[in-house]
Amino acid sequence: MTNKKRIFSGIQPSGNLHIGNYLGAIANWIKLQDEFESIFCVVDLHAITVPQDPETLRKKTLEIAKIYLAAGIDPKKSSIFIQSQVSEHAELCWILNTIAKMSELEKMTQFKDKTQAGVSEGIGVGLFDYPVLMAADILLYGTEVVPVGEDQKQHVELARDLAKRFNHKFGETFIVPKAFVKEEGMRVMGLDDPTKKMSKSATSEYNYISLTDDAETVKRKIKKAVTDSGSEIVYSDDPPRVDEASPRVEAGKPALKNLINIYASFSGKTPKEIEALYVGKGYGDFKNDLAEVINNFLTPFQEKLAAISDEDALEILRAGAEKVRPLAKAKLDDVKKKVGFIS
Ligand code: AMP
Ligand code: TRP
Repeated sequence: MTNKKRIFSGIQPSGNLHIGNYLGAIANWIKLQDEFESIFCVVDLHAITVPQDPETLRKKTLEIAKIYLAAGIDPKKSSIFIQSQVSEHAELCWILNTIAKMSELEKMTQFKDKTQAGVSEGIGVGLFDYPVLMAADILLYGTEVVPVGEDQKQHVELARDLAKRFNHKFGETFIVPKAFVKEEGMRVMGLDDPTKKMSKSATSEYNYISLTDDAETVKRKIKKAVTDSGSEIVYSDDPPRVDEASPRVEAGKPALKNLINIYASFSGKTPKEIEALYVGKGYGDFKNDLAEVINNFLTPFQEKLAAISDEDALEILRAGAEKVRPLAKAKLDDVKKKVGFIS
């Protein structure tokens, strides 16, 4: 291990990874892996906070690891491992549970979203405790920077608070981590509803483009993607117009803005350049090309994905766990000593 700053991030092996996960998380990690000492985790302990079919969980765990690799995470530069293979995560979570407060977990928006307005009937304790496990993931490795999407900022904030609280109570132990959130442009919205982010738990498959969708599926989904009123391909940051009585105010086009952002991210062109390409053309041409731009990324990506065997992925994951375990163990030993456990 080097003296570069350390980053840690993870994705749950549940649902279908989509282009939002790629553009909002994984693509960013690939850029960071040269600058930082990087640890990327497949967080299966988090995944079981909602019911999972065991066979599907195993399959998805390997699939996420393969996606990391096919996307360009280089196991020579970064450590990739499965959370449940390093038992220190669960142990540190337990100890942090004793300093975390019910009131701060009750404030977590992800928990509130998933439980729908405070109804706790039938909700697992694990789901409530999810952010403390995430804090354990981060703090075990002396992580300085946590690259995540906007939605995870509040969880990193909790990790900071728990680190400070533990340090205050038991003496300097944890580095206080910082969230690293990408700029707004990387937030990919749902194709069927541009007011909500693209989500792997969406009920309609027309919400997202999965990283494993074939070329025809991509074409079909883009064709069905909702668009805004009007027929010009223009990029507008304005909010959608609510006042129909003032027609001279430029109406915002959130659906088109999202599609242009996706086009820009996969093609390397700016939104302005894309607008210029479609002057005098309509949605039909634009959508055909957008599907092609996405497929130009997905087709070679999927070829790489298919070439990685389960055995190769497992070997990399086990080697990753071996590499990070000593770091986790050293930190946990220190924590256990500080709280008064006998070694
Ligand atoms: P999740 O799919 O919620 O487990 O998120 C895994 C990672 O992908 C996190 O870093 C998220 O912030 C990021 N992510 C998820 N959905 C999107 C999206 N629609 N746009 C951008 N980033 C996303
Ligand atoms: N909760 C994160 C998400 O849903 C995944 C995650 C678990 C994570 N542990 C982490 C992200 C530690 C960053 C650091 O996206």
